[in-house]
Amino acid sequence: CGITGYTGSQEALPVLLKGLESLEYRGYDSAGVTLVDENGLYTQKRKGRLADLEKEMDIPSFHQTTGIGHTRWATHGVPSQLNSHPHTNASNTISIVHNGIIENYEPIKEELIRQGYKFQSETDSEVIVHLIDYYYQGDMLAALKKTVHHLAGSFSICVVSTDHPDEVYVAKVSSPMVIGRGKNGSYCASDIPAILEYTKDVVIMEDGQMARLTPDQIEVFDFEGRPIEAKITHIPYDLSAAQKGGFETYMLKEIYEQPEAIRETLRGRISGNQIILPKLDGLDLSAIDRIYIVGCGTAYHVGIYGSTLLQRWLPISAISTPASEFRYGHPVVDEHTLCIYISQSGETADTLAALKMTNEMGAQSIAIANVLGSSISRLANVTLYTCAGPEVAVASTKAFTTQLVLITLLIIKIAEMMGRRPQEADAVLHDLKRMPEIVDDMLKKSDEVKEYAELLKDQHDAYFIGRQLDYVSVLEGALKLKEISYVHADAYYAGELKHGPIALIEQGTVVIAMATQPEVAAKTISNIEETMARGANVILITNKEQPALKFDRVMRIPEIHPTLTCIPVTILLQLLAYHTATEKGRDVDKPRNLAKSVTVE
Ligand code: G6P
Repeated sequence: CGITGYTGSQEALPVLLKGLESLEYRGYDSAGVTLVDENGLYTQKRKGRLADLEKEMDIPSFHQTTGIGHTRWATHGVPSQLNSHPHTNASNTISIVHNGIIENYEPIKEELIRQGYKFQSETDSEVIVHLIDYYYQGDMLAALKKTVHHLAGSFSICVVSTDHPDEVYVAKVSSPMVIGRGKNGSYCASDIPAILEYTKDVVIMEDGQMARLTPDQIEVFDFEGRPIEAKITHIPYDLSAAQKGGFETYMLKEIYEQPEAIRETLRGRISGNQIILPKLDGLDLSAIDRIYIVGCGTAYHVGIYGSTLLQRWLPISAISTPASEFRYGHPVVDEHTLCIYISQSGETADTLAALKMTNEMGAQSIAIANVLGSSISRLANVTLYTCAGPEVAVASTKAFTTQLVLITLLIIKIAEMMGRRPQEADAVLHDLKRMPEIVDDMLKKSDEVKEYAELLKDQHDAYFIGRQLDYVSVLEGALKLKEISYVHADAYYAGELKHGPIALIEQGTVVIAMATQPEVAAKTISNIEETMARGANVILITNKEQPALKFDRVMRIPEIHPTLTCIPVTILLQLLAYHTATEKGRDVDKPRNLAKSVTVE
């Protein structure tokens, strides 16, 4: 989501709308604003894009000089008018916008309902405004202080009220918030782009801080209400760079967002050694004898990973198929079938059509999607969301790794529900919890990877090889390279190499090999040696335990359960594709002929 706030000498509405426009890349399910003066609050919000909201409002007729705004990327509650922000209290005197997730909103909501509060929306955010209302006795900072002490999860909040018509209050934990002073007033926003036009000297708020904005000053406090000296940061870049978080492209920004995206996807889903996915309780898996995993492109690769795990852990048939093939492949589907659909957008035409088909055939369905309220999520029996945030670059990065995380949890949980919790479940969960830090370490290898990209940039072809679960990384690495650098890349099982592709290996051919699976790593190493004997330049990705003395180009991933190596390996391969593409001057965010969401069959 994106949020903005302003109080100053100018009319607030154009300032808020412009700020929101610069944040729309963060979410576009719905948009809304609240303007305030001594006569009251004026809130306008609606489902859909910001432009639709602007069309509805007669902008010149609003003269208020204080307000808050929001553009939403839904997390709790489908995109709708009622679920849109801002949220106001019953007496229409306090209004808030919120970015983040309030994990404990249900017990708070129950308590507020007992106290007589009525809720308008399904959102977690609405509890905030009623809590403030509950505590408010004339001092907004005091009410905000009491409110934040109840909230668990992540939040950046902006508040306005009719009692203080030229003040905006903000609070922040684990969700971004910046504030700044310009010559015409004070500004706040969830992201730098929204206030860059007014000031390049901003306060990047830290967790556990609140602030009060008035037209001519900003004051920062801790959560006990004690004043803190604000630390000013100078932002050296322009608007377009700021939208990309200072990165040169959206794809690079999204690659670097992966530790956080994985952290958010895991949030609240593992407790000790238990997996918390209560939505699955509505399914009856007792008579399931067949599981299909269906998706397109990158999501299909997650399917292969998922079906490999299922085959290891359950004595039932588990098959992964691209949606476009599955639909026409006459699959055996009946009421004993479970279908898992994977889609970042939740709108891909073939995936959607396959889901409709298996629904009609009586199968149960689970969707893994990133976009709340998307078509696929409306049709599946249960939808689990990756919490990757909007993915803008066409080539999928953070959606893929968060899908891997979530499907791992899902499959362990399914096995458990079928009475066969895998022996290695505890070890896998232990390492999943470490994954944000592991991914962060992989990102630090970017410069090393860049050197290998030098090797690739003048090649016509590259060969990716690996066995078992490494084959998932092989497929995804080759796809990334093709998509954004236009270097032809073949993905092969290492053992299949000598049945054909080895004929193409000659002096200088680049082979990118993965050997992270203990049972088969030594066999893959032999296959690599066969290519080296024919002149191949090999880049080997392996884990700490594998001896790799004879290789010049080796990248190591940390010691981690073999089930999960695909995640850190993929980070390296994303960077490899990225650096190769930028070396070649490609438009990485919008590769030729490709679309982010393929809504035709
Ligand atoms: C397009 C995108 C891919 C994506 C695929 C499936 O081809 O370019 O990056 O993997 O669609 O998209 P979905 O939204 O269903 O995951």
